[in-house]
Amino acid sequence: MSRFLNPREISSRLQKNNLNYDFIYKKSTESTNADAKIITGKNNLLIVAETQTAGKGRYGRSFYSQTNNGLYFTIKINFFGVSGASGTPRPTINDINFFPIIAAVSVSQAVYSLCNIDLSIKWPNDLLYNKNSGYKKICGILTEASVSSVSSVSSVSSNSAQNISYIIVGIGLNVNNSISDFPDNIKNTASSLKIISNKKYDRAALLCEIVNNFTLLLNINHTQLLAEYKKRLLTDTNISFTHNGEILKGKSVGINENGNLIARLENGEEITIQSGEINFI
Ligand code: BTN
Repeated sequence: MSRFLNPREISSRLQKNNLNYDFIYKKSTESTNADAKIITGKNNLLIVAETQTAGKGRYGRSFYSQTNNGLYFTIKINFFGVSGASGTPRPTINDINFFPIIAAVSVSQAVYSLCNIDLSIKWPNDLLYNKNSGYKKICGILTEASVSSVSSVSSVSSNSAQNISYIIVGIGLNVNNSISDFPDNIKNTASSLKIISNKKYDRAALLCEIVNNFTLLLNINHTQLLAEYKKRLLTDTNISFTHNGEILKGKSVGINENGNLIARLENGEEITIQSGEINFI
């Protein structure tokens, strides 16, 4: 298997699947999410880099991506006018939670169908695998959105909705990494598809399968999407999380119709977590 991705092969796979993205391949960049933000244009965009020198994680953390054994890429979807590219209603700020969910389902479905590996989802969108020594992170997802106020005036009322102009979904998937590829500070918490199964995988095939799934899932209804997500969501685990500035402990119970996590505290009270992250304890 080649050391580098073949951009022509990726372009032709995208074309064969009618995946209409402007495609950019880079040997190295700081961050594909940062690149996607400054590239403007009408078309949807896919940027892939062999390595990133300043890969971004959630909450200002960094994401280690300085080896060409993983997949580091960003999908940018532009929403113009009142409808999305496919004529579906332009998403509003209320839809923002669904993009990380779409990404987590796209990756886990692709990994299952091409590698036969069943990843679990740690809410909202870390993909983990549990092999003897506890859960290890295989994939991280960072979603960013640009939001604009759009006023709609009807004969009876005037409304100002926060509409999404574009979303950027950055995915870092550890594919053919060996344990020696990871720096010491994440050696115990990270793993890769190769470490799990002792096999190497075709990164171009995985990338295009993920983009294909993502594109299809953008257009399914939220009920179907959440049903797919729930199949892999880790529940009934002991967690801690911050709520109104307080650190609370409880059990993750499931998600509601908006994709928010429901946690049950020791006293039986249920709390809905809309954003942020949870820790397993
Ligand atoms: C996380 O685990 O906190 C999210 C990690 C997201 C990493 C990906 S790699 C491709 C894209 N570019 C970035 O700078 N970050 C995302």
